[in-house]
Amino acid sequence: MRDFRFLPEPPTRPGNGHLQDWALSPLPLIGEGAARARSAGVDVFRLRLGLPAVVGVGAAWNRAVLTDLGTFRSAGSLSRIVPYLSGGVILSDAPGHGGRRSLMNPGFGRAHLLALQARTRAALPGVPDGEFDALAWADGAVLRMLNAAYFSGEFDAGLLHAFLAPLRRPFPVPAIPRPLLFARVDAELRRLARVRLTGRGHDDLLAVLAPLPGGLEEARVSLAAAHDTTTHALAYAIWFLAQHPQWHAPEHHGAVLKEVLRLFPPGWMGSRRLSRDLDWNGVRLPRGALALYSPYLSGRDRAAQADLTDQLLGPLAAVRGGEELRRTAEALCDTGFSQVETASRLGIHANTLRYRMERIEALTGRSLALPETRSLWWLALQLERLQG
Ligand code: HEM
Repeated sequence: MRDFRFLPEPPTRPGNGHLQDWALSPLPLIGEGAARARSAGVDVFRLRLGLPAVVGVGAAWNRAVLTDLGTFRSAGSLSRIVPYLSGGVILSDAPGHGGRRSLMNPGFGRAHLLALQARTRAALPGVPDGEFDALAWADGAVLRMLNAAYFSGEFDAGLLHAFLAPLRRPFPVPAIPRPLLFARVDAELRRLARVRLTGRGHDDLLAVLAPLPGGLEEARVSLAAAHDTTTHALAYAIWFLAQHPQWHAPEHHGAVLKEVLRLFPPGWMGSRRLSRDLDWNGVRLPRGALALYSPYLSGRDRAAQADLTDQLLGPLAAVRGGEELRRTAEALCDTGFSQVETASRLGIHANTLRYRMERIEALTGRSLALPETRSLWWLALQLERLQG
């Protein structure tokens, strides 16, 4: 069994290990760590963040971190140092978590979600024409949608904006305590909660949270957690659609969001603490170490990408006429799966196109009518271009 201190790590700086790079440019830092881990033939690397930390690169590590709740504990993890968060309101290992969920669940039934959906849609401002700043637009749009979903639009809009403003700045700005601002937000939450507890006629999220012990803190924490994640996902989705207008159709938007969350995940890193020593593929990871998983790294993991390209492009490459089929798949992706445009782009008859599509489906075992197959094809071809 090897000691974890022998694990690969990105270059350190004298005196502060990886802390400075972690604060100022974390993505290149973890990208370098992942590259070193892969070339050393392991799927974890080490970081020096004031306490021992280990970051996993692939799906197996993520699965372990997110499912082995006894070993990987939320308590004491990184979000604890950001006052906006609470080390996991969604702490699955917190005492009474199960009971609490069942207390809240009746409030989150389908009908409730549909009502919220209608309300958030109505709050969404129109997308401007021409050139505009996607991040600024998304920021304003998400503030309005959150206000609608949580408070029926009754939260003081200026205060909500000021409360969430530090989350738009780079680390360590979000970690600085702001007791006065938080006190004003708590007072506004109490005012709105009183109305919901004493009267009737509110069916927003605050009406569900207000009667629960600690419910107002949960409203505050989840507002913060919801705000910059959703804002960034929306801004990147707009930017992505501006680059690839052929995907701008309601039936493709689900796939676009998935691709955006893969490439630019707003929750780029999650953390846990090890509750015991753990043997991971021949390496002893010490109890108390930070265990980090990264959707950013796994979304860009070459091993997982090779799996996908093999699954879709492999069977085509193995048959006669495979190159033609592959060009057909490419043209379908480039036209947002418009059969008319694809046929004209390739200069073939509609029946020939249908025949080729059936062959692609038979070879890969995936129906091209399904949005998820279409997004997988898009992804596989993009990845192949990048690799090539
Ligand atoms: C694109 C949208 C979003 C993404 C990508 C995202 C991603 C994440 C990730 C990766 C975590 C850490 C999970 C863990 O390691 O256990 C997290 C935590 C959390 N998320 Fe989200 N999230 C999104 C939207 C939202 C929304 C809309 C809400 C609430 C309405 C929300 C509420 C929370 C809360 C309360 C936490 C726990 C925060 C804490 O540590 O105290 N998230 N999210």
